[in-house]
Amino acid sequence: MKVQGIILSAAVLLLLHPVSAVKSGDFKTCSQSGFCRRGRAIAARARDATASWKSPYSVDASSVSVSSEEALITAKVQSSLYPDVDFRLEMHVEDDGVVRVRMDEVSGLRKRYDEAADWALVKEPTISSDIRWTAGKKAVSAAYGAGVEVVLEYEPLRVVVRRHGKEQVVINGRGLLHMEHFRTKETPVANEEGLDEQDVMTSLKANAWFEGEDQDAYWEESFSKWTDSKPKGPESLSVDIDFPNHGHVYGIPEHATSLSLPTTTGDDPFFTEPYRLYNLDVFEYIASSPMSLYGAIPLMHAHSAESTVGVFHVVGSETWIDVAHPSPMSSQTHWISESGILDLFILPGPSPDDVFAQYARLTGTAALPAHWALGYHQCRWNYVSSDDVRGVQKQFDEADMPVDVFWLDIEYAEEHKYMIWDQKTFPDPINMTNDVAAFGRKMVAIVDPHLKRAEDYPVYSAARDKGLLIKQSNGEDDFEGWCWSGSSAWVDFFNPDGIEFWAKLFDPRPGKEWSWTQSTEDIYIWNDMNEPSIFNGPEITLQKDAIHYGGWEHRDVHNINGMPLVSAATSTGLIQRGDVRKRPFVLTRSFFAGTQRYGAMWTGDNLGTWEHMAVGIKMVLSSNIAGMVFAGSDVGGFFGNPDAEMLVRWYHVGIFSPFLRAHAHIDTKRREPYLLTEPYKSYVRNILRLRYSMLPVWYTAFRENSETGRPVVRPHYAVFPQDLNGFAIDDQFFLGSSGLLVKPVTRPGVTEETVYIPEDEVYYEYFSHQTYHGSAEGKNVTVPAPLDRVPLLVRGGSIVPTRERPRRSSSLMAQDPFTLRVALSKSGAAKGELYLDDGVTFAHRDGALVWREFIAAKTSKTTTIKSRDLAVEKPFAADLAIYDPANAFSQSIKNVRVEKVIVLGLSGKPSSVMLTGGGELVWEFEEGAGSAGKEERASVLTIKDPKVGIAQDWEVKITL
Ligand SMILES: *[C@@H]1O[C@H](CO)[C@@H](O)[C@H](O)[C@H]1NC(C)=O
Ligand SMILES: *[C@@H]1O[C@H](CO)[C@@H](O)[C@H](O)[C@H]1NC(C)=O
Repeated sequence: MKVQGIILSAAVLLLLHPVSAVKSGDFKTCSQSGFCRRGRAIAARARDATASWKSPYSVDASSVSVSSEEALITAKVQSSLYPDVDFRLEMHVEDDGVVRVRMDEVSGLRKRYDEAADWALVKEPTISSDIRWTAGKKAVSAAYGAGVEVVLEYEPLRVVVRRHGKEQVVINGRGLLHMEHFRTKETPVANEEGLDEQDVMTSLKANAWFEGEDQDAYWEESFSKWTDSKPKGPESLSVDIDFPNHGHVYGIPEHATSLSLPTTTGDDPFFTEPYRLYNLDVFEYIASSPMSLYGAIPLMHAHSAESTVGVFHVVGSETWIDVAHPSPMSSQTHWISESGILDLFILPGPSPDDVFAQYARLTGTAALPAHWALGYHQCRWNYVSSDDVRGVQKQFDEADMPVDVFWLDIEYAEEHKYMIWDQKTFPDPINMTNDVAAFGRKMVAIVDPHLKRAEDYPVYSAARDKGLLIKQSNGEDDFEGWCWSGSSAWVDFFNPDGIEFWAKLFDPRPGKEWSWTQSTEDIYIWNDMNEPSIFNGPEITLQKDAIHYGGWEHRDVHNINGMPLVSAATSTGLIQRGDVRKRPFVLTRSFFAGTQRYGAMWTGDNLGTWEHMAVGIKMVLSSNIAGMVFAGSDVGGFFGNPDAEMLVRWYHVGIFSPFLRAHAHIDTKRREPYLLTEPYKSYVRNILRLRYSMLPVWYTAFRENSETGRPVVRPHYAVFPQDLNGFAIDDQFFLGSSGLLVKPVTRPGVTEETVYIPEDEVYYEYFSHQTYHGSAEGKNVTVPAPLDRVPLLVRGGSIVPTRERPRRSSSLMAQDPFTLRVALSKSGAAKGELYLDDGVTFAHRDGALVWREFIAAKTSKTTTIKSRDLAVEKPFAADLAIYDPANAFSQSIKNVRVEKVIVLGLSGKPSSVMLTGGGELVWEFEEGAGSAGKEERASVLTIKDPKVGIAQDWEVKITL
C-alpha cells in the first residue's frame, strides 16, 4: 500500500539521519527567502530552456582597457535586460597567480556594499606586473605561470581559467549571473528615463524569461511574525561557478555535513536546500544538513587527481550555494547572495598546498596561539562560584589529570552584565584567578556582545553615551533586543570607535574610563552569541534593516558581524592590557573569512550523540581547510548526558582537535572526567596525558600553518591529492606534517576499526608498534580499537617529538625533556620538525625561538639520526631575518635534553649506537616479529639518554 510505503521509508530515513530537536520553523528555507527563490528560479528557467538559454550579460568590447602596467583590465558590462544600466568589471592577476574578478553597478541609484574584502583581507594583494593581456575581438586573455590561462569572453560574459588547456573554473558558463540593479519601487526600470508605464510593463514582460514575471519579494517580505522593510529593494547577486573537471568540492563552512559536499539538487531528501551561509544560533542543530550554522567562510575548494583550485567569493550578506555533480568528474555550483558586489578570487592551485598558500596570502593565517591554549580547557555552564572553581581544580589535581584552563559561562556575571562579577558567588575573583594561575593555569570568562540596558552597567551606558550602538532601521534610535541579559543593546563593531572602546574595556589597570579592574592578565575571553544571537529577532538574529556605521544595513554585513568586531576588538584589548604584550586567546562562535587571525572557534551547541561526535570531526576538517584552523567541538556534547563509553571516545576526538574543550549545558549532570568510575577515569587520564605529550607536535603544526597556510589537521585529499580513494574520506586525518594518522572511533561497541593507508609505505601503530603495510593502490587495514585506545598510526618516514612526563598543566612542562619517535620508512629514512618558543609573548617575532629538523638516513649498514637548525633556512618568515641560534629563548632551554630516542623498523640488531663526537650510548633492542609484507611488530631500538640537548646539533650513528 502506498501510504504504508511512505511511512516505512520515512522511518528508514529517520534511522539513517536521526533528526534532532532543531526548530526548523525558526529558520528559513530557500523558498522562504525572496532572493534565494529568485536565484533558484533563474537556474530553473535556464535548465528548462536548455540550448536556447543565453546569459543577458556581455562585455562591451570597445570599453575593454588594459591599465598602463598591463596588469589590470577594466570593462563596461551590460545586460540586454536593462540596456541603460551599466556595470563595471575589473580583473587582474596577483603575483601568486590568483585572479580577482570584481563587478559593480556604476552610477546606480545607490551604492552596493563593497567593504567585505576590507574585513577579510589581511592586506591588498599585489597585482602582478608580469602579466601580458592580449585583447581580441571576442575576448581578452593572459597566459602565465605553469600553463595557466585566464580568459574574459565578451558575448556572453564568461570568465574561464584553464590549465594546460583544461577548464578549471568557469564563471557564468551556465548564464546564471545576475546583479539586480537598484531601482525605485514606482518605476522598476528606474534608469530608463522617459518611459511611461506602458513601456515599463513591456520591458518587464520582455525580461520575464530571465527575471520572472512577478517581482517576487522585491520590496518587502515577511517571515513568521517579522517583516523586512527592504528599503533598497532587490539587489541580489547570482553567479554560477563551475568546475568541469573536478568531481569533489569542499569548504564553505560552517555546515554539519560531510567534508566532500553532497549534491543539493538531487534526490537526497536531506539535501534539497542549498548550503546556506547566514550566521545563526541554531538550537540543537541537525548532524547532517546544509542548514546555516554560526560561521560563514565563502571559500570553496574543487578537487580532482589532476589539480585543486579554489574560489573565494568575498561577500558578507546571506548567501545560498547549490552544488551539483552532473558527472562523477565535474561539479557545478550556484551562489546566490542577498547584496554586495561580485568580488571573486580564483585560486588556481594546482596543488592543495598551493591553494592553502594562496588563500593565506589573501586572508592571513592563524595567529600563533599561546602554548597553554593547546592544553585542555574545562568548561561548564556553569561553575557557580569561586569556591566551585577551586574545588574543580583540586579534584583535577587529586585525579592527576592535566588541565590548563577553567572557564566561566554567563552565570559569573551579575544579571548577565559581563565583566561585573556576581558578588554573592564570586566575591574574590582576583584571588580565585591567582589560585588557578599558581599552577600555571588560566581562566576564560565569557563576554558576550549583548549589553544589558541598565543605567548602572558602565559598559552599556558608556557605549550609549558615545553613540556606539547599532541603530534601528530609522538609523537614529538605538536598537534593542532580547538576550541572556534581558533587554539589551549591541555595540556596532563596524565603527572604528566601537572597536577602540571595546578593546580598552579589558585593561585591569585603572584608567580615566571604566575598565575591568576586577580582572587579571590570566583571564582570557570567550565571545559567544556574536552572530548576533537575539532571542526575539527573526531567525534568532538581528533584523536585516538595522543600521550600522556608514549607514550600511545589517543585511550587507551580517556574516562579518562576529569578526573583526568582537574578535579583533577583544584580542587587541588582551594584547594591550599589560606592560608586557602577551598573546591573546579569544574563542568566538561566529566567524568569517579572516577570523583565523584573531582567535579560535568551536562548533557551537552540539548534542551528546554519536552522530554529533562524528560530524564534529568533519566540521573541524572543513574549518581547517578554510583557514580557521584553531577549531574544535565540545567534548561530550553541549546537550545531554553521554554515558562513560561515549565520553571516553569523545575525549579521543577532542585530543585530536586543535582546540580541546569539554563543555556542558546547565541542565546536564556534572561530567568532569574525574567523576568517571574506573576503568573510564584512568582511560581519560591517559587520553589527556597523550594530548599533553603531543603538545610539541600541535605547536609545530600551528607554526607551520602560520608560515604556509597549511591546515593543522589535514584531510586525505590535502595530503595525497592524487589518491582517488581518499577524496571522500573525512573520518580519519593527519595531524600537521607529523606523519600521525588518526581515526577516532565514533560508534558504540567498537573493538577494531578499519583505517585506510593511501600509499605503499609502512605505518606503525603508535602504542604497540605493530606495523601495517599499505599499497600503491591504497589499502584498508584493521587495527585494534578497544575503548582505551584510539586508532593512531605513524607514517613510515616520520620523526615525532613528544614530552612524556605527566604534569598538571602545560606551562609546568617548559623544561621537560623530549622523546623522539623515529618511524623509519621502507627505505630506512625519516624526517620530522620541532618548533618551540616561550609560548606566551611575541618575542618569537624577534627571533627568540628554536626550530629543529630531525633527519634519519640510511647507507648500507649505517643509519644516522641527526638534529639540525631549521630556523636559519626559513628566509620567507619575516621574524627569522634576525634569527640568532644563541637567542634568549634557545638559551633558556639549553638544559632541556632529549631523554629517549625510539627507532622503529630497523632491519636488524645494531652492533653499536654511537653519539658522534661522544661514545657508545646505552640502548636496548627488541626484535620485530612476523615476516615482511605481513602485519607484524616492528623492531624497536630504544636509546636511553643520548646525552644531547633538544636545541643543539647532534648526530647518532647506528651500525648494524
Ligand atoms: C585574597 O588574598 C589575599 C592574599 O592572599 C588575602 O589577604 C585576601 O584576604 C584575599 N581576599 C579575599 C576576598 O579572599
Ligand atoms: C576501505 O573500506 C571502505 C569501507 O570501510 C570502503 O568504502 C573502501 O572502498 C575501502 N577501500 C579500499 C581501497 O579497499
